[in-house]
Amino acid sequence: MQQKNKTILVTGGLGFIGSHTVVELQNEGYDVLIIDDLSNSSIEVLDGITQITNTKPKFFQIDLKNKEAVVQFFKEQTVDGVIHFAASKAVGESVEEPLKYYENNINSLVYLLQEMIKNKINHFIFSSSCTVYGQADRLPITEEAPTKPAESPYGNTKQIGEEILSDTSKVTPLNAIALRYFNPIGAHASTNIGELPLGIPQNLIPFVTQTAAGIRQELSVFGDDYPTPDGTAVRDYIHVVDLAKAHIAALERLLASKNVEKMEYFNVGTGKGSSVLEVINAFENTTGEKLKYKIVGRREGDITAAYADTTKANEALGWKSELTLEDGLQSAWKWQMKVNS
Ligand code: UD1
Repeated sequence: MQQKNKTILVTGGLGFIGSHTVVELQNEGYDVLIIDDLSNSSIEVLDGITQITNTKPKFFQIDLKNKEAVVQFFKEQTVDGVIHFAASKAVGESVEEPLKYYENNINSLVYLLQEMIKNKINHFIFSSSCTVYGQADRLPITEEAPTKPAESPYGNTKQIGEEILSDTSKVTPLNAIALRYFNPIGAHASTNIGELPLGIPQNLIPFVTQTAAGIRQELSVFGDDYPTPDGTAVRDYIHVVDLAKAHIAALERLLASKNVEKMEYFNVGTGKGSSVLEVINAFENTTGEKLKYKIVGRREGDITAAYADTTKANEALGWKSELTLEDGLQSAWKWQMKVNS
């Protein structure tokens, strides 16, 4: 293992994408500090990470809304860069409790940036989302596509987060990259870490695996009257391990001062769109499990189709997705069976 002698803070490092990114950072020889408040994650994820990499990352149970705790953390720790995942992410809940989302996702970002700037830490990777594009006028979606008014407070916190970073990077030494994720799926091949949704899953793949496992009775397919080849909505499903690796590529671009703008944006997807019915078929063919489903009406706020133009990430980050939809579904299923056992 190459020793890079750099220490990276990963906030939300026990969450779904965060934990997979911690593993890839450690695989690349980085020292990792995790901040997580355990509000939507489990401390056991720390063991899962350690089993994969044989190295226990340093863990700090800190709520980033607690400014004093953030100040204290940066007084005590030396950090070279920050990858910021810690945020609330349920679209429906954000509509019900907007202030929780604005407080959680915005205050924490502001406090983090204030302390980073004070402590001269100038490299920041932000978890953004393709949701900033809304229903894009043209597919595949490039980074130049205009952002659309957010459909939910959650989506708005991603747009505001990007704006906070852009404004801050203009007048401070901060360099930032926003990664706009398409739909992350899958689990680590070891099945030591994966997605752990609380309660009834809102996202497609955890609902699919829980239905196949008998936890849910049947999957509802939200709408078959979209203007797509089979009438169901189309998304770009990106394997979480590929997504994790995109964070390393983005971080290394900043650490090597290869960024051409103070604030940059990259789409992180596969470039391939799959419909809900295609996902169901791929799941059945890959796992051999039969999935019970019915077609119901559209879900409010859903868009017709979104998939990424990945040219910019491919060229500037030297990153490309390697794993397939089938890899994602197979690993998600293996993980589901492990969680059940
Ligand atoms: C959306 C946002 C994403 C955000 C995520 C958080 C877009 C393009 N994406 O993802 O940025 O991070 O919410 O939750 O705005 N589906 C069903 N039945 C189900 C669940 C989902 O048919 O039980 C369908 C949806 O209608 C959609 C697809 O599956 O067409 C994917 O849904 P989901 O996994 O919830 O992700 P998005 O809504 O695309």
